Amino acid sequence: MFGALRPLLFRLDPETAHGLTLKALAALPAGRGPAPDPSLETRFAGLAFPSPVGLAAGFDKDARAWQQLLGLGFGFVEVGTLTPRPQAGNPRPRIFRLPADEAVINRLGFNNGGLAEALTRLAPNGRLGVNVGANKDSADRIADYAAGVRAVAPCAAWITLNISSPNTPGLRGLQGQALPELLAAAAQARGETGPPLFLKVAPDLDEAQMDTIADSCLQSRLAGLIVSNTTLARPETLASPGAAQAGGLSGQPLFQPSTEVLRGFARRIGSRLPLVGAGGVSSGAQAYAKIRAGASAVQLYTALVYHGPRLPARIAADLSLLLRRDGFRSIADAVGVDRDLGPGARVQALEPQPPAP
Ligand SMILES: Cc1cc2nc3c(=O)[nH]c(=O)nc-3n(C[C@H](O)[C@H](O)[C@H](O)COP(=O)(O)O)c2cc1C
Repeated sequence: MFGALRPLLFRLDPETAHGLTLKALAALPAGRGPAPDPSLETRFAGLAFPSPVGLAAGFDKDARAWQQLLGLGFGFVEVGTLTPRPQAGNPRPRIFRLPADEAVINRLGFNNGGLAEALTRLAPNGRLGVNVGANKDSADRIADYAAGVRAVAPCAAWITLNISSPNTPGLRGLQGQALPELLAAAAQARGETGPPLFLKVAPDLDEAQMDTIADSCLQSRLAGLIVSNTTLARPETLASPGAAQAGGLSGQPLFQPSTEVLRGFARRIGSRLPLVGAGGVSSGAQAYAKIRAGASAVQLYTALVYHGPRLPARIAADLSLLLRRDGFRSIADAVGVDRDLGPGARVQALEPQPPAP
């Protein structure tokens, strides 16, 4: 079905195609999805997911189809980014496909209908997380994050503080000196009994910035780190005409750099704070590489655009073959086994093979 639809969708402007896809999904009954292999269950930060393959934030910003998205076979779904007040975002066009690179560039700028509207569609679910951000014109961005945490706490299994969108001017500055203040304000808004707080960071960080972020995270009551958002870098390998567009790059060209930043955090943080890997995951082998680098779970977005709705179940199936091939009985056994590969070490191509008889 997706094979036949993809050329039609790809003839439409990417944002129009995305809007239609979400509408179609929201109109479907929410299926239960294929049951993943029990070895794929992953537990961290007090959460338990049947598969470590999740949907990254931004696909369902306004929480319109999260039940249906869970039904595609994702182990967990993160909606948002939601800001306190509705926001139009940047002028269109603002999403660009880079088909030759299996990538996307977006400069949406946190377009969303605001917290209050999305809350009408949220319901408590152990596999549903909410990603919150700050309005572009906010006079107090930290207060926006605190307001987001307070608002969604009753119906989010976890809350992600997104301080790494490249499309809200100055937002990534929160990864620096202001980070301890942000984390303290969010922890206070969460209270004693609220859901775990995750922080989502950029892939464009040098060693000193990673040190600072890791220290702040370990000193706060943060429950996990998501590595990473889109990149401002433009690798020389990009071959699509859209490569010069301004915005954040996601998809295949982000896989290697985001995995190295993930490994860098894994080395700094060890098993003291769980990590979630995002950036260019489109196969079981790539999900496995992120897990081996230190992720307890992975998230994807761009690969869904190129490979369609069967992708999460396919990745899960390949991942369980890879675990079995290497003698791991659970995801937890494989987390971080490649953490200490040297900086810049290439991630091995790990093709799934049938299990030994
Ligand atoms: C069109 C688009 C919109 C996005 N919007 C958000 C967002 O609102 N909040 C967020 O935290 N990440 C957002 N992201 C980043 C993704 O969640 C993810 O971190 C990134 O794309 C890397 O994963 P991928 O290579 O699998 O797409 C967006 C990505 C894309 C492509």
